[in-house]
Amino acid sequence: MTRIDIDRLTVSYGGTPVIADLSVEIPPGCFFTLLGPSGCGKTTLLRTIAGFAQPSGGSLRFDGADVTRVPAYKRGIGMVFQDYALFPDKSVFDNVAYGLRARKVHTRAIDERVRRYLERVGMAAFGDRFPAALSGGQRQRVALARALVVEPRVLLMDEPLSNLDAKLRVQIRESIADLQREVGITTVFVTHDQEEALAVSDRIALMNKGRIEQLGTPMEIYGAPATAYVADFIGAANLIEVDVVGEGTGPGTARVRAQGHEIDVTASGRSTPGKACVAARPEDLRLHAASGAAANAVPGTIERRRYLGNKVTYRVRLAGGQLIAVDAHGREPLHAERDNVRVLFDPAVTIMVAP
Ligand SMILES: Nc1ncnc2c1ncn2[C@@H]1O[C@H](COP(=O)(O)OP(=O)(O)OP(=O)(O)O)[C@@H](O)[C@H]1O
Ligand SMILES: [Mg+2]
Repeated sequence: MTRIDIDRLTVSYGGTPVIADLSVEIPPGCFFTLLGPSGCGKTTLLRTIAGFAQPSGGSLRFDGADVTRVPAYKRGIGMVFQDYALFPDKSVFDNVAYGLRARKVHTRAIDERVRRYLERVGMAAFGDRFPAALSGGQRQRVALARALVVEPRVLLMDEPLSNLDAKLRVQIRESIADLQREVGITTVFVTHDQEEALAVSDRIALMNKGRIEQLGTPMEIYGAPATAYVADFIGAANLIEVDVVGEGTGPGTARVRAQGHEIDVTASGRSTPGKACVAARPEDLRLHAASGAAANAVPGTIERRRYLGNKVTYRVRLAGGQLIAVDAHGREPLHAERDNVRVLFDPAVTIMVAP
């Protein structure tokens, strides 16, 4: 299993840096995901790890050995692309055998390994087929077998699921995650789909304009977003501007004024008075009738209600005028449109984030 060290990497196109001074360590055997919106530099970073793009600064090491200037074919990488990139005039077997033949592996060994990897991706019965006679999901399984059969040190995948329909996307992503764990190969996976990233990754690097905005496990990225950008990109967070009043009641909390009302929020030590921003996810907010007493709440009025079976989504206008989204379980008592309510902000999951 290979460890990847990226140190102060800069990659530019025509003088403009697309990756800027980026450093990250990818532990051996890690399923590492580059997540971010279109144009943030995911493909560029992946291509640089592969050796298809040259950095203008910084270095890249595999297991401590500098590979920054090593050509792509000598880095020991396997690659899977969005558009499969299979050879249309070769059978499934020959597609998978290609890399082994190029490496002059013995014919009998080729036979055994191709069969073993086709078996692993559930395509053993399709060796004689041509790519044109396969579904998208089957093509991507073949592409995966072709990438892994040469037993590379690192597996790189650029949005491998984005050409598949929703159901297949979930199926193939599960196969990829299972296979990655079984083979134990260090993997860098690119996606702009946050649910996909949460589902398969050991670690996620959420990128913003060529930089890593936050690095962490899926639980850290979702549960403790460091910035408004992260909170907004992963899950739909409500972002509310607040004034910090001082320390809150519980440890690690701050007292803030939000929409004209004081509430406690998780602040991890940041309780210096001044402007700040807090994030609260729709599913973490609770609605109570306006009449009852409720601590840590802000009054509001329900403007819209959507009943979706398993959940109900509300659009609530807070006292200070801001609109927020609140999700409730479908079996909870319903609030009606135009009802006055209190929105409860649980301090544990209302989190101060950098703007
Ligand atoms: N060959 C190139 N020449 C010039 N600019 C490029 C080139 N390739 C990419 N870029 C620019 O670099 C930036 C990052 O592109 P990149 O393809 O890495 O983004 P991405 O995160 O993979 O986006 P997407 O989700 O759309 O695939 C973009 O602004 C893009 O226009
Ligand atoms: Mg891309």
